[in-house]
Amino acid sequence: MGIAVHCSWLAALLCLHFFGGQVCCDCTEEKMEIEGGHYTLTKQLQKGSMLIYHCPEDYYPYPVMTRLCQYDSRWVKAPRTFNPQRCRVVECPDPTVMEYGEVSPPQEKYFVHNETTYECYSGYTMRGSARRVCLSNGKWSGSTPICGRESGHSCADPGIPAGASRAGNIFGIDETVKYSCNSNLFLVGSSERVCLENGQWSNKEPACYYKHTYDTSLEISEAFGSSIRESLTTLESLNDTQSGKMIRISKNGTLNIYIAVDISESIEKEEVKKVKEAIITLIKKISSFTVNPNYEIAFFSSGFYEVVNILDFFNEQHVERNTIIDIVNNFKVDQKNTGTDLDLVFKNFLDKMAFIKQRVGTEQFKEHRHVIILFTDGAYNMGGSPVPTVARIKNMVYMNHTGEEETQSREAYLDIYIFATGKIIFDDDLQPLVTGIGPKHYFRIKAFDELQMTFDQIIDEEEVKGLCGLHKEYVVHDPTAQDARNNYPWWASIIIQNGGLSRKCIGSLVNPYFVLTAAHCFKFGDQQKHVKVEIDDGQGRVKKVKTFILHPKYDISGKTEEGVPEFYDYDVALIQLEDYVEISSSVRPICIPCTQETSDALQLVGVSTCKQQEELLLKKQLERVSFLTKKTESVVVEKDAHAKLGGLRDNCIKHALTAPNITATDPKVAVTDNFLCTGGRDPFRDHVACKGDSGGPVFKNYEQRTIQVALVSWGSKDLCQLGSVKVESDETSRDFHINLFRVVDFLKGILGNDKQDVYSTLKFLKD
Ligand SMILES: *[C@@H]1O[C@H](CO)[C@@H](O)[C@H](O)[C@H]1NC(C)=O
Ligand SMILES: *[C@@H]1O[C@H](CO)[C@@H](O)[C@H](O)[C@H]1NC(C)=O
Ligand SMILES: *[C@@H]1O[C@H](CO)[C@@H](O)[C@H](O)[C@H]1NC(C)=O
Ligand SMILES: *[C@@H]1O[C@H](CO)[C@@H](O)[C@H](O)[C@H]1NC(C)=O
Ligand SMILES: *[C@@H]1O[C@H](CO)[C@@H](O)[C@H](O)[C@H]1NC(C)=O
Repeated sequence: MGIAVHCSWLAALLCLHFFGGQVCCDCTEEKMEIEGGHYTLTKQLQKGSMLIYHCPEDYYPYPVMTRLCQYDSRWVKAPRTFNPQRCRVVECPDPTVMEYGEVSPPQEKYFVHNETTYECYSGYTMRGSARRVCLSNGKWSGSTPICGRESGHSCADPGIPAGASRAGNIFGIDETVKYSCNSNLFLVGSSERVCLENGQWSNKEPACYYKHTYDTSLEISEAFGSSIRESLTTLESLNDTQSGKMIRISKNGTLNIYIAVDISESIEKEEVKKVKEAIITLIKKISSFTVNPNYEIAFFSSGFYEVVNILDFFNEQHVERNTIIDIVNNFKVDQKNTGTDLDLVFKNFLDKMAFIKQRVGTEQFKEHRHVIILFTDGAYNMGGSPVPTVARIKNMVYMNHTGEEETQSREAYLDIYIFATGKIIFDDDLQPLVTGIGPKHYFRIKAFDELQMTFDQIIDEEEVKGLCGLHKEYVVHDPTAQDARNNYPWWASIIIQNGGLSRKCIGSLVNPYFVLTAAHCFKFGDQQKHVKVEIDDGQGRVKKVKTFILHPKYDISGKTEEGVPEFYDYDVALIQLEDYVEISSSVRPICIPCTQETSDALQLVGVSTCKQQEELLLKKQLERVSFLTKKTESVVVEKDAHAKLGGLRDNCIKHALTAPNITATDPKVAVTDNFLCTGGRDPFRDHVACKGDSGGPVFKNYEQRTIQVALVSWGSKDLCQLGSVKVESDETSRDFHINLFRVVDFLKGILGNDKQDVYSTLKFLKD
């Protein structure tokens, strides 16, 4: 087909005149407008230019996000009159895929800001979010609601994420479930999960994305942050356990970081600048750790433009951090970059690895970790698929071991992250390239503006390590002290020795200076010198206590006259430490009610309230909660119970009257509204609290975050014997826990008091 056919003859004449007949002509702007939005062009109307549609927040361009001016001066795809370009309101994937429960309101489609609530059929209990909001990035807030019931299966029901279908309904060990996404959606993450021996599902829950779905900067900083931090910090420790597997990295292990940025025409120039800034931030942050990785940094399109050569780091030559930053900063994007050859990038990185391996020898190369970070839109239109090259990279790093066990143990040595950019993202091509264990490695970014900030937060100790309630989630049969710290990083041990026998309680770190516990751990006459708090933060296990503050309304003998010899209302206390504890991934505060931090953890959008949090956390008549018990001096394990709320509460608290010495006839005299009630065997057999569990957090997990809803106060029956760890309830045994939502004023008065500059204050919600 002759190329001039598509030009109007006048335009063709003009073009011929200007370009000596070599090219046809420019694309035109005719019919390109978008209703409700605007567009930009990467290279005006020249061939190869990309037209990018922009819509306001909460909207996305439809039917296409971009159009390309082709060599024959036609737009691809061509605009169509019957389906005009417009801004459509953002839609979230179908949440009604939930099993054994109801979604309200039932709608055919769910749009941005639409709210949904979830309820389980009777006999089923809910995990996940009971209320979710469709966010402007095309995702639901919170986590997938799952209605399950005790089934005797080894793994809990893994649920069905919005927009997905699941094949597989047997949750025994080694059973597999497979996910697929419904029409118009594509799957991000792993489509298969296997029920592991430890009762956990392998991989993370996959998600269904629309073309307009993006990851928020918070999601990226949490996922990429925790994962890259692990790469950085494992270099310092000899032993690390991950998913129960031992990874050993010697102290002389080396970290090689390979960064490549797409500068093909499909990525806007402004965006490249922002990625450059983000890379510089990342390099600075990484060097603020005690590690000095080797860097390979390149830009690419159809060519490979190396700006920092990793081999220089192996040539005895000292490469200054600032030199790297200058080089990256000074790199100018050449206008004439066309095409994207992703395979070329991986081939170059593979070559570098081969050089390094030759240089340092196979034995030493085994100790090298490799992190590849790629910024691209993945529209690889040259060089072919990079999949075979990525396979060769894996072979190189995994050392060709074929045994499953061995390969797994080597997987920690290679991470490939992809940040998909640009207005149209070729997910199907990019997703298979990511590699690595742990959190997500594939991210879709809408705007680069936030990327630098995101990277800033990733490594910022204050910002990320301080995130309340973040913890690792792996179940081990025989937990060690380190497992206990990683799984429950807020855990504190409290010992009070004032003459006679020592008393022991559990506490929870709520900020670097304060530990929350029960008031009854303290007796009249106790002074701060009698109190020891133990949190192993690597700076000495025992923390000196500055002061402890009991709730002013706590009065153990307040109701002796009414037949309650020991009255535990307001059984809450805060211990202030002399020095702050060092926050790390194994020492971190728990989230407490009515704080902004907790709203963030619950992914509540906009201005949120205390009530919203309570509704999310303590909504059902049966809320599954956990608390801790000491197994040894330095190891805690988790106990499970169900708080009986609403209509089930009265029946639960009536057993308080069976507690020894209580002569009152109304259980509400002893159990005020400030208590949560757990225990019993119906419908689930709960664990009961033992003496030493007092003061410990009663908590709920929400995605990767833990929120303390109550603290262990007292029980109606002492079923615990010395040495027993997880003690189960009988028919009438009940435990009562101080509901933190009822003592917010006390917490706020101390933890939210920003006049005291000695400690970091928590941001409490207005109401
Ligand atoms: C859902 O969102 C759409 C679009 O914003 C709106 O028109 C509709 O009323 C919402 N539905 C509900 C039930 O809030
Ligand atoms: C690492 O693990 C080995 C074997 O389990 C053990 O002998 C060694 O003491 C550990 N090292 C550290 C620093 O924990
Ligand atoms: C790295 O550590 C291993 C074991 O600790 C040791 O055998 C080897 O010599 C070390 N290599 C270098 C270059 O220090
Ligand atoms: C890995 O396999 C390739 C070919 O399959 C071979 O050339 C290479 O030597 C092997 N490398 C190692 C470390 O075994
Ligand atoms: C409760 O009663 C027992 C006897 O049954 C008695 O030994 C104990 O001192 C009483 N406790 C209180 C707190 O009154």
